Amino acid sequence: MPTSTAVTMCGIIGYIGSMNASRIVLEGLKHLEYRGYDSVGFAGVLNGSLIVKKDVGKVDDVHAKLNFLEHNLNLAIGHTRWATHGRVTKTNAHPHIDCRKDIAIVHNGIIENYEELKNELVSKGHVFRSRTDSEVVAHLIEEEANNAASFEEACFKAFSRLEGAYAILAIDRKDYKIVAIKKGSPLVIGLADHGSFAASDIPAFINYTKKVVYLYDYDMVVLKPDPVFYNIENGNLVKVERPIQSVEWDAEKARKGEFEHFMLKEIMEQVDTVQRAADQDKKILEKIANEIKRARGIFLVGCGSSYHACLTASYVFSKVAREHVNVVLASEFPNYEHFLTSKTLIIAVSQSGETYDVLEAIRAGKKRGSKIISVVNVMGSSLARESDEFLLMHAGPEICVLSTKTYTSQIALLNLLAYTLAGRYEEGRRRLKYLWNVIYYLTSANTRNKIRKLAEKLADKKHIFCIGRGLQYPTAMEAALKIKEASYIHAEAFAGGELKHGTIALIEEGTPCIVFVSEENGKEILSNATEVKSRGGYIIGISPTNHEVFDFWIKVPECGTENPIVQIIPVQILAYQLAVLRGCDPDKPRNLAKSVTVK
Ligand code: M6R
Repeated sequence: MPTSTAVTMCGIIGYIGSMNASRIVLEGLKHLEYRGYDSVGFAGVLNGSLIVKKDVGKVDDVHAKLNFLEHNLNLAIGHTRWATHGRVTKTNAHPHIDCRKDIAIVHNGIIENYEELKNELVSKGHVFRSRTDSEVVAHLIEEEANNAASFEEACFKAFSRLEGAYAILAIDRKDYKIVAIKKGSPLVIGLADHGSFAASDIPAFINYTKKVVYLYDYDMVVLKPDPVFYNIENGNLVKVERPIQSVEWDAEKARKGEFEHFMLKEIMEQVDTVQRAADQDKKILEKIANEIKRARGIFLVGCGSSYHACLTASYVFSKVAREHVNVVLASEFPNYEHFLTSKTLIIAVSQSGETYDVLEAIRAGKKRGSKIISVVNVMGSSLARESDEFLLMHAGPEICVLSTKTYTSQIALLNLLAYTLAGRYEEGRRRLKYLWNVIYYLTSANTRNKIRKLAEKLADKKHIFCIGRGLQYPTAMEAALKIKEASYIHAEAFAGGELKHGTIALIEEGTPCIVFVSEENGKEILSNATEVKSRGGYIIGISPTNHEVFDFWIKVPECGTENPIVQIIPVQILAYQLAVLRGCDPDKPRNLAKSVTVK
């Protein structure tokens, strides 16, 4: 099977039961929009006929145009798209249907052998409408139905021929059921008294039930009010039992509440989420600490913000536990494959637990017998499943595409691990518990209003630089990423010491430079700030104390190894306010999606 899977990052939802399926699917799609938001579609069955509505745009816009609530249905499926295969057009939007308009499917993933299947189906007379790989699934089920006793048998035969990664929901206008399959893309089942759900993520149906079933790859589920679970991995339709689990957070967590955006809500939640990250089972941490001690070669891997958390952790592991760990971007990890053995330990850090590059990295390690430990926020995610041991952040759902609360949770958890490794678990925990007050102050209306004034000064800038040394260097990198993603202002981070090796050439009159200062490296970084200022730079100090070099000062109390948790918070707020002032949607930045399941 090809290893170069490129997977679309979309959201799918289906419901069957006695409640209004149209409304449930519409609500679900809105909750899944963080996964993709270039086009949206809906299909259901009314009096034995298939209804399909789809178009380019966000859920609210397409619903306003097509009215997904026109009919009160008992069975419906929906899809919100982030295109990688086939342009953003109405025809390419899901659901896709077969030639006879009997079958509709929604798909998250990519069918790698679609060209081969499509050629075969075209030669048999099937007519394709879209340029997507997904449409092949609808025609394949149609074709297999010619030799199958039931819709589920046709689906089973069709799914058995697919290569790649997929979570698919299929319906047939003649059958009261949804057939679902998962391989490589996330899909979770929800169970309620009035019916059942299948969705890419729990927030899609958390308003209705907390009872969920996490699927395994190749699980095929026939969703009737009472679902039946099968696994088809070995080419047979084998009935299986899957445990029903209870979600630990509630519907409120997946709502914006009084906040205008999820980003602000999630920034504010850090008062609690850091505390929850600190509430880890000491025995599990000690067990992992022993694995670290035993290992020969430790790698921390992640992407984006999670990578910045890994980099931060490498400094803390060195400082607190005198342990050397390698930090590698998950996408670059294949270059280190030659060093992997059965004694290697890979610590993979990922909010979603579904990031393609991270999964590929750990799979490379597994092939060589390496041990895998992961730090994830999503229970039941592929990464948690495929790890020998995993630690949960307990941050609750993060809906905004930008990582905020999960970033600080990752650092909190990794810090605690470093302290445990040094035999100082209690101290590590105490240090995190102390942060409650600090984060409360940093997220208060006072601090936010102050940062708003800064945002007004910076909103028209073209570039912002961020500098730090030691633990403040990865914080500067994360700060630059937040500003870029939220406001589309170009931002770049540098280690303070690197400035004079080239970057200082970019500083002009008024160029903003955010300087992260700690007690440990205050002297050196302030000297770098002075160098920037003398070339006209506008200096924003994130520091425990004020300094004459600062043009703008944001006070952040000194927290030692926990500085990376508290110092990023003002910049998260700044990035948020810049986005709002510049008319950007901070929850759904252009071209991005929450789980990056593409190579
Ligand atoms: O789910 P993961 O933590 O694996 O995601 C990794 C990155 O895609 C993620 O951190 C991304 O960089 C965010 N947009 C950062 O805000």
